[in-house]
Amino acid sequence: MSGARGTASAKVILLGEHTVVYGEPAIAAAVDLDLHATLRPRRAGDGPLEDPQLRAAVEAALRPFRAAAGDWTAEIDSEIPIACGLGSSAALSVALVRACAVAFGEELDEADVITRATQVENVFHGTSSGIDVATSASGSVIWFERGAAVPVRPLAVGAPLDLVVALSGEQRSTAEPVARLRARFVTHPGLYRQLFALAGNFSHAGRGALATGDFETLGHLMDCAQGVLNGLGVSTPTLERLVAVARRAGALGAKLTGAGGGGAAIALAPENAPEVAAALQEEGFESFVTRIDAPVTEEVCDAIAC
Ligand code: PMV
Repeated sequence: MSGARGTASAKVILLGEHTVVYGEPAIAAAVDLDLHATLRPRRAGDGPLEDPQLRAAVEAALRPFRAAAGDWTAEIDSEIPIACGLGSSAALSVALVRACAVAFGEELDEADVITRATQVENVFHGTSSGIDVATSASGSVIWFERGAAVPVRPLAVGAPLDLVVALSGEQRSTAEPVARLRARFVTHPGLYRQLFALAGNFSHAGRGALATGDFETLGHLMDCAQGVLNGLGVSTPTLERLVAVARRAGALGAKLTGAGGGGAAIALAPENAPEVAAALQEEGFESFVTRIDAPVTEEVCDAIAC
């Protein structure tokens, strides 16, 4: 076999990171950056996989197929910046599960991919809400509510959404800001529950704004979310500067995306994304424009009962 390939995409969280861990709803979208995982039987002379996390992820992906990890090797080819909040570990997990399914001739539906890839992602951080994997596996815009009877629902988007994604240049782990917030929550549960509920309300309002293409409202909600995320202690001075630059350049709203503590931010710029990206680049922030489009298909319509 020359190799079994699985592909998965990066993601951004539009609203609801962190609070999603505590059961509040969040909205996330797959973005146009791909990761490919190629799995092939180990040949004589192949060394072991050097990266211990990749080795553990391959083992976890192979486990349901009862395959001996030592018999296989994997190559990863990725456009997704790592440790930036764009879901590189989730995309790796989804792509590995898909590559395994190809290698073993098994058909997996989206729910199977999500379940298995979540187990793989636990290699990277065991406290994940599952939103990254669900978004990457769906390849679309989703409503995610941990613990709900139906945790993942596709969302329709009323008009294509032009976002600027900008990197703060600060790499970080997901686990650390999640653990820091957990410690604060444990100390002041009443206060933090109120902040979590507030962020959940932004997601509810954002869902309606997204469906109708009301970008003014969506941008405002993103700004509100950034305020709460800063209050939760997961923003950084660099991320604050980044969102300020994006807003000054005409973005309708801007916020960090993912775990924060560094990583990436997104800016909503339906009319002027190239200008906003240029302003960010002038300030030294690597950035790119992505378009998110999820028209109402029959399938989406059934899933959201419209
Ligand atoms: O790994 P990141 O940076 O994409 O963050 C994931 C989103 C969090 O809400 C911070 C954690 C989680 O598991 O939901």
